[in-house]
Amino acid sequence: MVLRSASWIAAFAPATVANVGPGYDVFGLALEEPGDVVSARLTDEPGVVRIASIEGDGGRLPRDADANTAGRAARAILDAAPEKAAEHGIELELIKGLPLCSGLGSSGASAAAAAFVALTLVTDGPVDARDALGAAIAAEAVAAGAPHADNVAPSLLGGFTIVRPDDPTRPARFEPTLPCRVVVVTPDHDVPTREARAALPASVPLADAVANVAAGATLVAGLITGDADLVRRGLADRLVEPHRAALIPGFADVKAAATDAGALGGSISGAGPSVFALVAEGTDDAAVAEAMVDAFARHGLEASAIRSPISGRGVRRR
Ligand code: HSE
Repeated sequence: MVLRSASWIAAFAPATVANVGPGYDVFGLALEEPGDVVSARLTDEPGVVRIASIEGDGGRLPRDADANTAGRAARAILDAAPEKAAEHGIELELIKGLPLCSGLGSSGASAAAAAFVALTLVTDGPVDARDALGAAIAAEAVAAGAPHADNVAPSLLGGFTIVRPDDPTRPARFEPTLPCRVVVVTPDHDVPTREARAALPASVPLADAVANVAAGATLVAGLITGDADLVRRGLADRLVEPHRAALIPGFADVKAAATDAGALGGSISGAGPSVFALVAEGTDDAAVAEAMVDAFARHGLEASAIRSPISGRGVRRR
């Protein structure tokens, strides 16, 4: 007899660019690839969440489920299903496709994939990725030290997402009509999200807040209407980038290299150190990527580039 508890299911959750310039903790977008894969199965240990294995993290992530974002996501799902938890636990296997502390939404992707597979296991029927958001957000807080949903929302839902801090489980989502690609360049340099958040001031000048609201609205209007010039003018951040730039060797040069090569603009991807650029159709995104990698090299850092559309697809079964 094949026990149901022996069946593994797997989900892939993609990398994301959070903040997207002016939208600190609010904007996020999904890339097509790479991402993390989380497999899960029900066990016969009531209420117990266990991590069986993690590949691709160089041994850096906690194996203790309560200290791991994927484990915490599965725990949140199980806690919300007491009848299932009375009979079963959940066992997880993680394959990290995303580097840690890179600004590609690594912890968010693990949380998103784990919440989705765990929800699929405890639900008898298909699940809506939106229903996994609350668990993924709670889990992401373990890694970042504070809850923020701008990585987990696009990783679960795909597209471009807009999270309101007062209601993070109900983000707005759209798929840009502007034909463009995203270049994300990741240097060989860690910036832990906790440190990047600690670098920010507790309050900001009103004029900077006004400028960021204007830029954010302009960026979204440009992406929705397909107006590249609005996107160019909307990729401006006076609240966060100035405080975090010093954490990324060569940041100003890398950003300038992107626009010199024809990108519409760019900024820090998430908490960094990755730097992203948006590139309109008709501009060579490979040349933009090469220019950004070369700029990091001039500052002594090896770097690798991802080129992707803004993907309409978020988490999915593997
Ligand atoms: N919005 C978050 C931050 C994203 O910038 O700290 C972290 O990945």
